[in-house]
Amino acid sequence: MEYKQLEHLLHNMSLEEKVGQMVQLPAGMIAKEGVITGQIDNLHLPKEQKALIGSVLGLTGAKDLREMQENFMAEHPHHIPLLLMYDVINGMETIFPIPLGQGCTFSPELVEQAARVAAKEATASGLHVTFSPMLDLVRDARWGRVMESTGEDPYLNAELGKAMVRGYQGSGKGETLDLTKEGNIAGCVKHFAAYGAPLGGREYENVELSERTLREDYFPAYQAAIEEGCVMVMTSFNTLNRIPSSGNKWLMRKVLREEMGFEGLLISDYSAVDEMINHGIAADSREAAKLAILAGVDMDMVSNAYIRYLAELVRSGEVEERLVDEGCMRVLKLKNDLGLFENPFKDGSVEKEQEVLLCREHRSLARDMAAKSFVLLKNEDILPLKKNANSKVALIGPYADTVEMYGAWSFPKKPELSVTIKQGMEAKGVELVAAKGCFMQDEDKQAKVGQKDTYTKEELEALMKQAVEAAVSAETVVLCLGEHREYTGEGGSRADITLPKHQMELLHKVAKVNKNIVTVVFSGRPVVIPEVVENSKAVLMVWMPGTEGGNAVADVLYGDVMPEGKLSMCLPRSVGQVPIFYNKFRTGRPNEEGTRVGFIHGYIDESIYPLYPFGYGLTYTSFGYSEVTLSKETMAKEEILTATVTVSNTGKREAVETVQLYLTDVKGSVVRPVKMLKGFQKVSLKPGECKRVQFEITEEMLRFYTIDMEYVSEPGEFYVWIGSDSDTKNKASFRLV
Ligand code: BGC
Repeated sequence: MEYKQLEHLLHNMSLEEKVGQMVQLPAGMIAKEGVITGQIDNLHLPKEQKALIGSVLGLTGAKDLREMQENFMAEHPHHIPLLLMYDVINGMETIFPIPLGQGCTFSPELVEQAARVAAKEATASGLHVTFSPMLDLVRDARWGRVMESTGEDPYLNAELGKAMVRGYQGSGKGETLDLTKEGNIAGCVKHFAAYGAPLGGREYENVELSERTLREDYFPAYQAAIEEGCVMVMTSFNTLNRIPSSGNKWLMRKVLREEMGFEGLLISDYSAVDEMINHGIAADSREAAKLAILAGVDMDMVSNAYIRYLAELVRSGEVEERLVDEGCMRVLKLKNDLGLFENPFKDGSVEKEQEVLLCREHRSLARDMAAKSFVLLKNEDILPLKKNANSKVALIGPYADTVEMYGAWSFPKKPELSVTIKQGMEAKGVELVAAKGCFMQDEDKQAKVGQKDTYTKEELEALMKQAVEAAVSAETVVLCLGEHREYTGEGGSRADITLPKHQMELLHKVAKVNKNIVTVVFSGRPVVIPEVVENSKAVLMVWMPGTEGGNAVADVLYGDVMPEGKLSMCLPRSVGQVPIFYNKFRTGRPNEEGTRVGFIHGYIDESIYPLYPFGYGLTYTSFGYSEVTLSKETMAKEEILTATVTVSNTGKREAVETVQLYLTDVKGSVVRPVKMLKGFQKVSLKPGECKRVQFEITEEMLRFYTIDMEYVSEPGEFYVWIGSDSDTKNKASFRLV
């Protein structure tokens, strides 16, 4: 449709019809039951009103969605199609690693490909929009939704966020944005803004951040994805400095629209508009609707507010009709950009679903990506395992033979088609004895939703006994431990981020009879595992690896694929260290050692350093780094400086290293972070091979919000660090003049 025709359509719509476009309801209220995460059942709306809505969320499947679209359009006065949305976070039916694991790949290429696959499967299932990428910066491992973020670093999040947008919307290299094309889905950047920083890591808690911190650390990833062309943005649940995002005019109209130049559709989060009543800034739903529309929210996800009160607010003169026209037009425009007026089902087709969902190509990418998201934390000459006859393995633990490895935000309809670790290991043709050892959850600490583990003491003891016997009979133990997938995700905050106590008991029992332990840790967050590390010869973090998790774990354990993941969040030593992140600020009483007590920075009873830093990860070879050399010692603002290192493979296996560039601004008008990631490159090296790796440093990379809140660089000294993690000591320095 031409833009003029859209204007004509808008012109011919009644106020109620226009408001209707700005409303999204859950599928359960329109047709079938969908995923419900909030309170919505108090919405008793007349049928005529429901018949005018603009969008539905939470239902998938080409057949059901086609039927719903057909019925809906037949009744709508202008036959306007619905926008169909869903949370396709780390895959639709082929499940990829959770985003936190995807962050550990440090690979925009892989992340883009995974998003592309998710988009193909989602559109075949009849969807038009995915509520992804989630680009909240996360620094507090207690918060359950860290799993849905790519981690603690603004630069990495921005690079991977852009990759997701390209993958979803099909705007990769050389392609211009065309959402009508088959396989392209609209993306939605969320949760604007700073949902990832709730106090104490408590879900839905207030966020207090200075404007400088917001602009410097929290906004860049959202902004990058918007600049990459993402067509939708979602508000966040949290209050930001005392103002709920869905009613925050400054945040939405000034920052998002004016400064970031976002022209697409802004949707509230699930019932977030009405939640302003609970926040205590709206007296009732009517006032909440008013606050939201004035702040610029175009679509109200699921609350009572717009559908009930927006038209009335316009009639009473409290809200200008122009604001409704603006919001409605953005909805119509997105429908038009997706080609829905011509083809309301987009790519949804049962045949297509059969062809693409879980197809071989998609599974193979999921396997590859999962393997590359694993982070090898420790290896005392035990990995890779050998496949020969006299190296029997005891595969032990609650994660040894389960398909529940897809994280908290994936809803595969056929999870039974996933590969368990046991199946993956068996496919390698090795001798194996498997034992569950204990239940996934302690009886007194169950996951937020889903299956509970109930058992007697005797049942638990019997499992432990079997596991110990298995460990005695084998050369090596592969111990699969971790937190339940529903210990994370929305509503999944934890105050204690250790592993369940029965699992730790299992570890100690096994360690008494067999020292050759390789522990594989499953989790949706950085967990506290010093004891696991101490009692294991090798530790592999595999997050929630998805559909092909079992094959990928076996690939890495047996060295068919070399591990190459690097931590996208620090691993804390204890929960008391949280929040802990690498790009912190210098203090007035530095504590290099990290553990000394006295009147210096830190704790009496804990180190200031994490167990493993951001960017850390080993593989089955070792790398050497030359000193950093710079093309010049001084740099004028318009110049480009080159920083070079030579990286060599000093071990015996070919492998990939992620070479990381960090910068430090030695002195600024405000305190600057100790280090900031500004680049990374992957290099593949054969044993004995050396490669030169170069990074360009431009003045733009040195800018920050100065004491006067100007985004500029300040002349002076800078350190350039290049190494294999954020703790690298390999440094050179230059002066910006
Ligand atoms: C979550 C969003 C999600 C939405 C729709 C909310 O509860 O915060 O991330 O996209 O539900 O399912």
